[in-house]
Amino acid sequence: MKNSRIAIAPSLLSADFSRLGAECRSLEASGADWLHVDVMDGHFVPNIEFGVSICKAIRPHIQKTMDIHLMVSPVDSYVSAFADSGADRMTVHVESGPHVHRTVQAIRKAGALPGIAINPATPAESVRHLLDEVDLVCVMTVNPGFGGQEFISSQLEKVREIKSMVGGRNIRIQVDGGISPANAGLAAQAGADVFVAGSAIIKGGSPENPAPYGANMQKIRRAAESGLART
Ligand code: DX5
Ligand code: ZN
Repeated sequence: MKNSRIAIAPSLLSADFSRLGAECRSLEASGADWLHVDVMDGHFVPNIEFGVSICKAIRPHIQKTMDIHLMVSPVDSYVSAFADSGADRMTVHVESGPHVHRTVQAIRKAGALPGIAINPATPAESVRHLLDEVDLVCVMTVNPGFGGQEFISSQLEKVREIKSMVGGRNIRIQVDGGISPANAGLAAQAGADVFVAGSAIIKGGSPENPAPYGANMQKIRRAAESGLART
């Protein structure tokens, strides 16, 4: 049975960039709950991907949630432009500057639900005093910058710590990087309820052949649900 707490969020980083609109439509039709857009600035992370114009261009092809992950530093001057591009959710890194508390407030003011992401080397404690300001914590399970990297299993402990810090607050816990059916159960058991995956979902499929998208998402969802059942 589908558990409403689990959200599957394919990362468009692994999609065919020459037809992102068709990719968004196929992924949603195949069961995606959110579409995850990775914005990289070539400074905070060693790669450059997805700007405001691309977010604007794909927005009409997304019916559900556009989840923008800003790997950008400094980020404040870009908040309103990405919010105006149609973001439902916008996540910034706790490492992106000294005033992220203000940044997440600016995201909410701009009309999107704010999230805070945390790199593998950063302790869970660094998000504690942001928890009353955010709707999501994203635990990076790879070092951000590229798709297709290996899941860092030490981050499961951090998911557990954050889950306990969150307590009764209504905050989603997202895992991002190297997520597959092999680790989604463990992540769910630790407390994650939003699963970002690029390569594990997109592999083998295309807008003309979307069946693998559905099957790949189903496998991650089932693994996550059985992990959740073990909590
Ligand atoms: C990494 C990005 C991820 C990436 C995940 O910096 O934040 O969203 O697309 O890709 P996979 O699932 O292939 O590790
Ligand atoms: Zn991401």
